Amino acid sequence: MTHKDLRIKFVQFWEEKPRNHKYVPPAQLVLSNDATTLFTSSGMQPLVPYLMGETHQKGNRLYNIQPCIRTQDIEGVGDNRHTTFFEMMGNWSLGDYFKKEQLSWMFDFFSKKLGMPEEKLYITVFKGDYGVPKDEESAEAWKKLGIPNERIFYYGADKNWWSRSGRPDQMPVGEIGGPDSEIFYDFGTKHDPQFGKECHPNCDCGRFLEIGNSVFIEYQKKEDGKLSELTQKNVDYGGGLERILAACNNIPDIFQIDIFVNIISEIEKETGLLYSDKKNQEAMRVVADHMRAAVFMIIDGVLPAKKEHGYVLRRMLRRSAVKMHFLKRNLTPNFYSIIGREILRIYDKEQNVNKKDQQDIVAKVISQEMNKFSETLDKGLRLFEKKQDINEKIAFDLYQSYGFPFEITQELARQKGLDLNKRLFEEELESHKSLSRTASAGKFKGGLSDHSDQVIKYHTATHLLHQALRDVFGNSARQEGSNITQERLRFDVRLDHKLTEEDAKRVEKIINDRIDENLEVFYKIMPREEAERIGAASFFKEKYGDEVKVYFIGDYSKEFCGGPHVRTTSEIGHIHIKKVKKIGEKLVRIYAE
Ligand code: ALA
Repeated sequence: MTHKDLRIKFVQFWEEKPRNHKYVPPAQLVLSNDATTLFTSSGMQPLVPYLMGETHQKGNRLYNIQPCIRTQDIEGVGDNRHTTFFEMMGNWSLGDYFKKEQLSWMFDFFSKKLGMPEEKLYITVFKGDYGVPKDEESAEAWKKLGIPNERIFYYGADKNWWSRSGRPDQMPVGEIGGPDSEIFYDFGTKHDPQFGKECHPNCDCGRFLEIGNSVFIEYQKKEDGKLSELTQKNVDYGGGLERILAACNNIPDIFQIDIFVNIISEIEKETGLLYSDKKNQEAMRVVADHMRAAVFMIIDGVLPAKKEHGYVLRRMLRRSAVKMHFLKRNLTPNFYSIIGREILRIYDKEQNVNKKDQQDIVAKVISQEMNKFSETLDKGLRLFEKKQDINEKIAFDLYQSYGFPFEITQELARQKGLDLNKRLFEEELESHKSLSRTASAGKFKGGLSDHSDQVIKYHTATHLLHQALRDVFGNSARQEGSNITQERLRFDVRLDHKLTEEDAKRVEKIINDRIDENLEVFYKIMPREEAERIGAASFFKEKYGDEVKVYFIGDYSKEFCGGPHVRTTSEIGHIHIKKVKKIGEKLVRIYAE
């Protein structure tokens, strides 16, 4: 089966009766209103407000295929199944159907729609943990579908609980999550005893591959540290397209699905080496994965940088360069741009990429970054080889003079049996004057750190702040980003004028007057064109669908927004602007509490 076939089957399955799901366009990899992770790392992330009870304009049954990046998986890439970038096929019930329907549809999807032999499907269920009972309902549902006891396994919260932050004890206040039930595909390969005595679905030997996870989002972490049940019980399913495709083809190596075959064949062509030769596999997998992740980051607007998103992109590109270097010296100068172009071509129709401007930007960013790095890569590696005693100071030199991200030096050191300490490296970095002040101007990170009451209050306050700035400076005052924690709100705004102390006072007074008026906060779902016509404020960088949700605060403010918000403005309490800082050309950062 090809990735195109699989996409079609997935869409058909969820649109068909009796499921009747609606497609929601996937979000960008860099979310503008979620600061919990650097990148979108699961399909549910853009949907959090709706899982918490906000109304979604498309209804209560949704599905899509969401590009995701999981940076915690970088080191794991190289085996048969881990990647940093993947596409998550997902479906959601926003307080509509629950366990019984979800699990029977999962079963139908894998066994009937995709034709996987039933006996190859293994199931895991939550065995009870952290005061939450064993998930008998899911286990019963699987048994009714004909899955015998021998293929149903029970695990605790480490394996069968899902939230963006992990287990219940790791969840911050306001976070939502719940028990989950996973499906594994059995490739029937021989168990490798280095991974333990007995093989089981969560064993890492490669025999089993997780192809789907149905999370039952029914709990929220409260201020007292306890979990409370949500009134709205949700389903959040996600399964990696690449893994499902490998299982459909019964090949226990996701790098042999059609998406990767062409990328790997370019690497083979360039190096003159074969993927089938086991000693090349790890490096070729890393290059294929990282280059694919890099291309998707670049088309979503990320550029190589010293921090955050840009640093991850840089690390991916430079790690690919190091791996390629060990496969072959003296690469064709535009090798990486060729790979970039190939990746765009593979995704052409599916992701609506491969337009001329995207081809240009991908080629330009990749070749600039790789050309720069290739000038120092050789020298850096030679320095590394020469030194007997690799320490954090040398890691710093390699970073400073040769552009080696710490993690790459760390990885090379580990191959020599040495371990480096990131904190010591950072101390070295801090003490070095020229690098200690990496300007963060021009970088915007928006979003809510959690969904606690305080964060929601500040979020509504940002809408008032936005409008108050427009009152004082006119409609050219434009929000560039926001970041909210329980302690304060931060708001970046593009302004044609200087923001004086008096201006700040005026803005503050307008906000507090609106708060005192106790205005109602409500939303309307409307066609995007209408929302634009009535002058609702929107984010310049965000892509919006045809139908949008607009939040109104009385008749004072209107803004494109998913929520969540307080119900009336007096819930916010008074807002005080604490600090105003110029952070760039015509760009001002406001802190308020
Ligand atoms: N959100 C769930 C996951 O990422 C489906 O596994």
